[in-house]
Amino acid sequence: MDFSIKAFDTKTTLAAAKAGVVAVAVFENKTLSQAAKALDAGGDITAALKSGDISGKAGSTLLLRGVKGVGAARVLLVGMGTADALSEKNYSTAIAASLKVFATLGSQDAIIAFPLADVKDRDVNWAVRALVIAANETEHRTDTQKSKKDPALAGVRKIVIAADAANAATQLKGTLAQAVAISNGMALTKELGNLSPNVCTPTYLANTARQLADQFGFEIEVLERKQLEALKMGSFLSVAKGSDEAPKFIVLKHMGGNKKDAPTVLVGKGITFDTGGISLKPGPGMDEMKYDMCGAGSVLGTFRAIGEMNLKLNVIGIVAACENMPSGRASKPGDIVTSMNGLTIEILNTDAEGRLILCDALTYAERFKPAAVVDVATLTGACIVALGHHTSGLFTRHDDAHDALAQELLDAGKQAGDVAWRFPLGENYNEQLKSNFADLANIGTPGAASITAACFLENFTRKYTWAHLDIAGTAWKSGANKGATGRPVPLLTTFLMNRV
Ligand code: BES
Ligand code: MN
Ligand code: ZN
Repeated sequence: MDFSIKAFDTKTTLAAAKAGVVAVAVFENKTLSQAAKALDAGGDITAALKSGDISGKAGSTLLLRGVKGVGAARVLLVGMGTADALSEKNYSTAIAASLKVFATLGSQDAIIAFPLADVKDRDVNWAVRALVIAANETEHRTDTQKSKKDPALAGVRKIVIAADAANAATQLKGTLAQAVAISNGMALTKELGNLSPNVCTPTYLANTARQLADQFGFEIEVLERKQLEALKMGSFLSVAKGSDEAPKFIVLKHMGGNKKDAPTVLVGKGITFDTGGISLKPGPGMDEMKYDMCGAGSVLGTFRAIGEMNLKLNVIGIVAACENMPSGRASKPGDIVTSMNGLTIEILNTDAEGRLILCDALTYAERFKPAAVVDVATLTGACIVALGHHTSGLFTRHDDAHDALAQELLDAGKQAGDVAWRFPLGENYNEQLKSNFADLANIGTPGAASITAACFLENFTRKYTWAHLDIAGTAWKSGANKGATGRPVPLLTTFLMNRV
């Protein structure tokens, strides 16, 4: 989708504008938005509302042709609910409904003239971002690996967002560029997630990271097995060794800030396929474990976004990538391995592999003396039990610095419409990870599996401020519309933007 912003004032009125369609809001009590009024000189819109053909309820639509005094070929009336308190939900519903109609039109260009400034508790920038991300969402294709591509998208391909004053239009251009960057980042994250696991291997992730580095001028380093051995990443390597695919440890650097500023570090879980290993997962639905690299995918997608917007912040991305396979070389339940920071780990369940790769990545992150480290992982099925598919799990220690980091992430999620919810950590949960034979077990006693997973990671993050995002429920959708969501790229990118 191609977006632009244009101010429609008294000189260039909305009514005179030429377009395939112009979409304006109407409300439940048969009232018109400012923009709808601007198109109603001939009384057609008032008449349409009076006729009862559109209720004005959020998401209701009515397409009019040949509206008197209007230059556009069509006017799309879009219901936004009650006029006095335009809720975020009603605004978003109206956007989705408009895009659905746009897709059916025989015309390619649209003007959207919605009350961007009127969404309750939100500002114009949010309204623009929500619009752009939703529109790009409808465009995403999953036909990369189909021999016959899906038919070309019909309907509207060009959207002009109407702002009410010239200066607002100028300011919103920056917001628009950010929204497009986030959308492009999400598209990359979705593509990586959806690609089949025989294609999207650790090597493929490394090559993708190299391309991003080329395109946006990131520094990049990809550590191979030998180097990981030299670093003593015994825990990460214990997961990788069951597979014939080479593990890759990817380090991307976007140094957009002052040279001396401590970087913010993102760490992604990149299990390109999780069979469970010797603790093999059940067969049905196992294909979805190709999505076990979505933490890594979201780190790369976030880099795509901050690269495109050339964010003035130092950000380092770390991706630990390998497969979790059963084989003669795979770890067995009961094996004890030594992590990079020296802690020994009893692997009681080879399916709890995410934490085994992340712990070494988190130890590696120490060398950057980070301002903060956020790891992102499809870590536990239990997180889906707790939060479903709407909300990512957030975990940090409980002190002032960590409360502040948690709040930053929660706020960014709320701002971006990509929400998270905080869980508790603490000594009682830590005790669930005791092993008789090693410093730590890789699974806890029954109960609170998402929290004990985070507690495990906590042991490796004592040298900096750290947060963990469990995206097991939010990274992809199952069922008929199976596919990666691109989350939490909006949350992460917004978090970084707010840190500038
Ligand atoms: N990748 C899975 C977590 C997962 C499962 C995410 C299903 C989304 C959907 C992870 O590696 C895993 O297998 N975790 C185990 C941990 C358990 C053995 C303590 C789980 O959640 O069952
Ligand atoms: Mn697993
Ligand atoms: Zn996993």
